[in-house]
Amino acid sequence: MTSTVLRPHAEQDHADELAALAAVDDRPRPPSWRLSPWAVVQYLLGGTLPDGTEITPKYVGQRRLIEVAVATLATDRALLLLGVPGTAKTWVSEHLAAAISGDSTLLVQGTAGTAEEAIRYGWNYARLIAEGPSEKALVESPVLRAMRDGRIARLEELTRIPADVQDSLITLLSEKTLPVPELNTEVQARPGFNLIATANNRDKGVNELSSALRRRFNTVVLPLPDTAEAEVEIVSRRVAQLGASLELPADVADLAEIRRVVTVFRELRAGRTEDGRTAVKSPSGTLSTAEAISVLTGGLALAAHFGDGVLRAHDVAAGILGAVVKDPVADRAIWVEYLETVVREREGWDDFYRAGQEIAG
Ligand SMILES: Nc1ncnc2c1ncn2[C@@H]1O[C@H](COP(=O)(O)OP(=O)(O)O)[C@@H](O)[C@H]1O
Ligand SMILES: [Mg+2]
Repeated sequence: MTSTVLRPHAEQDHADELAALAAVDDRPRPPSWRLSPWAVVQYLLGGTLPDGTEITPKYVGQRRLIEVAVATLATDRALLLLGVPGTAKTWVSEHLAAAISGDSTLLVQGTAGTAEEAIRYGWNYARLIAEGPSEKALVESPVLRAMRDGRIARLEELTRIPADVQDSLITLLSEKTLPVPELNTEVQARPGFNLIATANNRDKGVNELSSALRRRFNTVVLPLPDTAEAEVEIVSRRVAQLGASLELPADVADLAEIRRVVTVFRELRAGRTEDGRTAVKSPSGTLSTAEAISVLTGGLALAAHFGDGVLRAHDVAAGILGAVVKDPVADRAIWVEYLETVVREREGWDDFYRAGQEIAG
């Protein structure tokens, strides 16, 4: 199926899976939920249904984490997904909203400039001036719409939002109502409403959550993948999906290149080689799974358009350099040292060493 939009929402992309799950799902559903908590977890983790339908895994990792996340959303507490960049916080939040509400689009992107209107409501000023305050002049935020419709709202990068704006969530989450004093009314949340926020724990100190707000959330920390195999699985699955949706005429039939990129990322992240024998310095960037995915997708595009369609070391070298070297001096030295002390000595990595050297100049 070629899609007519560049990036369909999760509920569009996986409409078949969601329908198949709903059809077999005979467990109790919380009010307004499209699926039972069990089926939501199944949608995220994947598996085969009794009727043979394959559900693709969206999240690769501990089942318990997803169970806690889903169970939280069935209570009166909101969910905070916390983790370093690239640990699938945004990804999991989109799929949870898609599975629970059939709608992942009620989204507020948190930034330093996020104002209260983005969380509560604003006004259509032309109408406001012409007609005075009325329901029609009110511009609902995605959160307000989620309350009205009994759906899941998503708030990205909560800790980037200024503290006083964050606090506008407190009443909304504890009382489940949003007063609209201008109209002398309020919007009371329907059953099914809840909120998933994501935050980056590297942003610490940017805008800490106030303790009053923190109490309204259950926190689930999404970790980096435990093992190299798990990370290779995540990366290869996503690269294959992205390659297909971008219609790149290239294939990652062979996992070898993915394995090497993941190894490099894990070693630099951990500060030692996988065999534990050699200490290496860690560069300043995160080198997340998400970055490994983009390095490989970029490599795939190079291989498709400027190579012979097979992903090779020199297709990924530039991407790796870009991911590793965030600070042009210190990180470059770290990369060169890694090349010379680790990559050079490694059996079967000659092509990778040469490509790395070439690109590092
Ligand atoms: N454990 C994981 N399982 C599945 N996909 C993952 C995992 N970790 C990272 N990813 C992938 O990484 C990509 C980026 O994740 P994202 O949600 O943007 O990260 P975050 O919001 O935590 O910074 C997604 O495409 C996702 O598929
Ligand atoms: Mg994110």
